[in-house]
Amino acid sequence: MTTPQFCDVLIIGGGVAGLSLALRVAEQAKVTILTKGALTEGASLYAQGGVAAVLNGREDSFESHIQDTLKAGAGLCSPKTVEFVVRHGPEAIRWLIDRGVPFSREETASDTEYHLTREGGHSHRRVIHAADATGRAVETTLEALVRKHPNIRLQENYISIDLITQQKIERAGPNRCLGAYALNKATGHIHVFGARFVALATGGASRAYLYSSNPDTSTGDGIAMAWRAGCRVANMEFVQFHPTCLYHPRAKSFLISEALRGEGAKLKLPNGAPFMPDHDARAELAPRDIVARAIDYEMKRRGLDYVHLDISHKPAEFIRSHFPTIYERCREYGYDITREPIPVVPAAHYTCGGVMTDLSARTDLEHLYAVGECAFTGLHGANRLASNSLLECLVFAQAAAENILSALPTADPAVKNLPAWDESRVTDADEQVVVSHNWDELRRGMWDYVGIVRTSKRLQRAQHRVDLLKEEVREYYTNFKVTNDLIELRNLLLVAELIIRSALARKESRGLHFTRDYPNTLPGTPQDTVLTPALFQDSAVRAKA
Ligand code: FAD
Ligand code: SIN
Repeated sequence: MTTPQFCDVLIIGGGVAGLSLALRVAEQAKVTILTKGALTEGASLYAQGGVAAVLNGREDSFESHIQDTLKAGAGLCSPKTVEFVVRHGPEAIRWLIDRGVPFSREETASDTEYHLTREGGHSHRRVIHAADATGRAVETTLEALVRKHPNIRLQENYISIDLITQQKIERAGPNRCLGAYALNKATGHIHVFGARFVALATGGASRAYLYSSNPDTSTGDGIAMAWRAGCRVANMEFVQFHPTCLYHPRAKSFLISEALRGEGAKLKLPNGAPFMPDHDARAELAPRDIVARAIDYEMKRRGLDYVHLDISHKPAEFIRSHFPTIYERCREYGYDITREPIPVVPAAHYTCGGVMTDLSARTDLEHLYAVGECAFTGLHGANRLASNSLLECLVFAQAAAENILSALPTADPAVKNLPAWDESRVTDADEQVVVSHNWDELRRGMWDYVGIVRTSKRLQRAQHRVDLLKEEVREYYTNFKVTNDLIELRNLLLVAELIIRSALARKESRGLHFTRDYPNTLPGTPQDTVLTPALFQDSAVRAKA
C-alpha cells in the first residue's frame, strides 16, 4: 500500500504547457508535476521552427496573424480563440525572454534584434526561434527554474492511468476531479495523487500512426483520461501530417523544419524537377495540409518512397548557422545539406483535436483543466498554422493559471480518503507479445486506413480492427497488472477510435481531413465534430474510482 500524496495543483505533463503552468501558479500554490518519462521528454523538447507571435509591429500586425490562422484553419477556427491567442502572443514571448530563453538574434543596420523566420501559411516573418532547436531552449530554461522551485514537486517516471472523480468513487456532491492514479514505473506500485485542481498537459496522440515526427510520449493519454472521466472531445479527425521528415531507416522520423522552406528550400522529384508550383501558387510555403497532400500524391502517382528537399543553393555558412541541429543530424546519416538534397516523407505530427476547453482552459469536469496539444481550444480549426502550437501552450497555461489562482482561496481542500487502486483481481501478465503485436497492428492500420487521404471504406475497415483490438486489450487490462505499454496502448486505441469516428462523421473534405468519397468542402457554416462520452459504450474502468 503506497502513501497518497496531496497538493493544490496536480499537473500531468512536463512539456511547455505543463512547465509554464507550474511556474505561473507555484508562487501561490503547492504543485506536483507527473511525467511518464524524464521531465523534459515530450514533443516540446523537439520543437524546431519556433513560436509564432507578432513581434515586428512595423511590418506585421495582429490582424495579419489572425487572418493567417483563420485561413489555415479552413473555416473551423473559433475567431474568439484566435484573437485571444494572437493578442496574448507578444506577452507570452516576453515571459519566456524574462525567464532567460536564448532566442536567436540578428544584427540590423541600427540594432541587434530577435531574428524572425517564416513558415508556411504565414504572410510575414513572425516566428521567433532559438536556431533550429527552439523547443530544447525553452524546455531546458523552464526545467532549470522548475527544478529549483521550493513549491514544485517533481515525480518523473510516473505514468498517470486515470483521473479520480467524485462520481467514480461514488462520493456525494457535485461531480469534480479529485486527483489521479499513477504507476511508478520503477517500482510497479500505483499511487494516489489527490489535488484541489488537476491540469492535463499530456501532449498529442501522433504515435497512433506508424510514421510520426513525435517522441514515444505522444500517446493521447490525457485525451483518453478526460474522455473516461466524462469530458467531450472535438475535431479529432484533424490529424496534421508534417510534410518533411527525413527518410532514413535509422532516423526514426527526424523532422526537417518547415523553416528550411521558409528560408528557400525547394521540394523536388528525384529527377530534380520542382513540383509544388503545380499544386499551389504559394508552392513550398502553402499550408501544411496542401504540401503534405501534394507529396503524398506525387509519391503514390510515381511509386516513390520519398521526395527531395533541397536548400543547397543557399550559402553553406547561412545553412550551418540557421540550422545547426538539422545540419549535424543529416551529416550523421550521410547527407550534407549544404551540398545535396535530402530524402523526405510526411509523418503524423500534430493532434488538432482534443479535450474541449473554454478560454480559461477549463474542461467539462469541474476542477479539471487541459492545456497544450491535448486540448481543443478552437485555435487551430481544420489545420494548425505552423508554430502556433507552442504559442497556444504558453497562452493557455497563463489563462489556466489565472483561473486556478483566482479560485484557489475559496476552493475545498484536497479530499484525503481517496480509495487505493484495486489490484485484488489481477495477476502479472503471462506474455507481453499481445501488447506489442496489437500496438504494431494499430499503428500500421492507422497509417494505411486513416492517413493523409481517406475513404469511408478504409475508415470502416480501421474501425472494425480497432474494435477487435479494443476488446482484446480490454480483456487483458481486466485480468493483468498494468504496465506502461498497456496503459499507452489502451489510450491509443481509444483515441484511434475517436479519430475514426470523427472522420466518418465529417461528410466533406476540409483542411487536414481529405476523403475521396466527399472531396468537396460543404458550403455554409462549418461545424466542429464534438463527441460526447455519454453516447458511447466505453471500455472497462478498472480502478474502483
Ligand atoms: P508535450 O511537450 O508533448 O509534453 C507532454 C508531457 O506529458 C510529457 O512530459 C509526457 O511525459 C507527459 N505525459 C503524457 N502522458 C502522460 C501520462 N499518462 N502520465 C504522466 N505524464 C504524461 N510547435 C510549434 O509551435 N513550433 C515548432 O517549431 C514545433 N516544432 C515541432 C517539432 C517536432 C519534432 C514536434 C514533434 C512537434 C513540434 N511542434 C511545434 C508541436 C509542439 O512541439 C507541440 O504541440 C507542443 O510542444 C506540445 O506541448 P505540450 O506541453 O502540450 O506536450
Ligand atoms: C517545424 O519546425 O516545421 C515545426 C513547426 C510546427 O510544427 O509548428
